[in-house]
Amino acid sequence: METSKPIIYFVEKGLYKARLNHLTALAEKSNFLKVNKNYSNQVTHVLAQDCTKLQVLQFLKKVKKLKPDELSWENQKFVNISWFTSCMKEKELVPVLETHLLKDEDENIGVPSKKLKLEEKIPMYACQRSSPLNHKNKIFTDALEVLEEHALYRGDQNADARSLAFRRGSSTLKSLKHKISHINDLKNLPHIDIGGSSKPGHCKRVIIDILANGHSTEVEEVTSNEFYQTMKLFCGIFGVGPQTARKWFYDLKLRTLDDVKNCSSISLNRDQSYGLEYYEDLNSPLPLLDAKRIENHIREVATSIQEGIEVILVGGFRRGKQVGHDIDLLITHPEDGKEKILHKILDKLKDEFVYTDKKAGTTENPYHAAKVTATSQSTTDHFEKCYGIFKVDKTDKAAGENHKRTWTARRVDLIVVPYSQFPFAVLGWTGSKHFEREIRRYSKSEKQIVLTSHGMYTLEGKQNIPASSEKEIFELLGLEYQDPEDRNC
Ligand code: CTP
Ligand code: MN
Ligand code: MN
Repeated sequence: METSKPIIYFVEKGLYKARLNHLTALAEKSNFLKVNKNYSNQVTHVLAQDCTKLQVLQFLKKVKKLKPDELSWENQKFVNISWFTSCMKEKELVPVLETHLLKDEDENIGVPSKKLKLEEKIPMYACQRSSPLNHKNKIFTDALEVLEEHALYRGDQNADARSLAFRRGSSTLKSLKHKISHINDLKNLPHIDIGGSSKPGHCKRVIIDILANGHSTEVEEVTSNEFYQTMKLFCGIFGVGPQTARKWFYDLKLRTLDDVKNCSSISLNRDQSYGLEYYEDLNSPLPLLDAKRIENHIREVATSIQEGIEVILVGGFRRGKQVGHDIDLLITHPEDGKEKILHKILDKLKDEFVYTDKKAGTTENPYHAAKVTATSQSTTDHFEKCYGIFKVDKTDKAAGENHKRTWTARRVDLIVVPYSQFPFAVLGWTGSKHFEREIRRYSKSEKQIVLTSHGMYTLEGKQNIPASSEKEIFELLGLEYQDPEDRNC
C-alpha cells in the first residue's frame, strides 16, 4: 500500500528555507503523500514554484549535480506547488490538472502578464490612482492591514515607518483592476516589488504566502495573539490610543474591559470614561441611514441659526461606505458670520449630546496652521470643532444590546469652516487618511506646494493659491480628479 502513495520532492529553487520546511512538515503530516528530501528516480511528483520545467531540469543538473541518467523526468510529473496546496486544503489527493503542470520554456508564464504591466504602469502616489471601496484584492489587503495595525500597536522604534510600508503596499493593491493570482502579477508594483532587491520585501512575502497557502501564517499568528486582541479591544475605547493601551497591557496586566473598569490605579479621563460606558454602542457598525438622519437633523438646526450656513456629510460616508464608525459633518458659513456658530448649535442640541469636547479654532494665518509630516498618521487642522457623542434614536427594536435606552450612542464630529476654506476642508475631511497623507506628500515633493485642510501655498515664498472647488485643487496640483468614491486607498 505504501508504494502507491505519490512520492513528492520540492525543488528548492525559489523557495525560502522556512517555506520549504513548512511545506515538508505539512507533507510529512499527511497520510496520503510521501516526501523525499532529495531528488531520486523514485520521486513521482516534482514540485516547483514559479519555474518552467526546463528551469527545474537545469537546476537539478547544475545545482544538484545530477547526471542525465540520474534524471527520470520522463516518468515524473512536474507540477506547481499549487497542486500540493490544493491537496492539503482538501485533505486528500486531488487530480493533477493541466493548469498544475509546469510549462515548458517556450510558453514562459511570465511573459504575457509582463506585457500587460507595461501598458498599465501604476503611479507611485495613492492620490494618482483610483481606489474604489470594492476592489479585487481584499484577501491580501486585509492581511496587510492587520500587520499595519499590529506595527502601530507594538509602537517600537520604526513603528510608523513599518505600518506605513504595509499601508502603501495594501493601497497599491486596492487600485488594481485585476486580482493577483500569480507572483508574476506583482512585478513592478509600487511599494510591493521593490526594485533592485533580489529579496522580496515584507508585503510581497505576505502576498506570496497567501498565494501559495490561501492564508498568511504571520497574520494568523498575529491575530491569534493575546497582545493583538487586547490592544484591539482597548484601542476601541474612545479616547484610548496604542500608548495607553500598551501601558494597561504590559504594566498593569489588564486584559478585559472589566479589568479596566475595576483597576484602582488608573484614572480615566473624560473621553475614556464615556468611551468605556458606551463601548458597545460606539463599536457597533453605524449604518448610512442613521448618518443621513443625523446629517439632516443637524442641518435643520444649523441653518436655522444663520442664513447661508451649509452642512455636508464627509468622512467615510462621502466615500461611499455603507457603514462607518462616526458621523463627520462640515458646517460652512459666510465669511462675516462666524459668531459663535458652534456654540449656538451645541446649545440647541444640548439634550441630544451625551458628551462634547469642543476645540477652539485659531484664525491667524490659517494656511500655515496645519502641520504635516511624512509619516504621521493624522493631519491636524485648526478649525473650531467638536468631537462628541450623540443620542441617535433606535429605528428598530432589535438594534443595540441595551434594552433600557431608546437611543444608541454615536460619535459625531462637527467642524466649522468659513466659505473660503471650504473646498480644502472638504478635501481634507473626506479622507481616507492614507489619501490625505499621499496627496500632501505628492504636493510637497512633486509640486513644492503645501496642502492643508485650510488652503495651499507655495513652499517657496509662501504664496497662497486659492481654489473654489475640489476639482480645481486637483487641477492646480496637476492631478487627475478622483471622485470621493475612488479615494478609498
Ligand atoms: N481628519 C482630520 N482631522 C482629524 C480627524 C480626521 O483631518 N482630527 C480627517 C482624516 O483625513 C480622515 C477624515 O477626516 O480621513 C475622516 O476621519 P475618520 O472619521 O477618522 O475616518 P473615516 O474615513 O470617516 O472612517 P470611519 O468610517 O471609520 O469613520
Ligand atoms: Mn468618519
Ligand atoms: Mn471622524
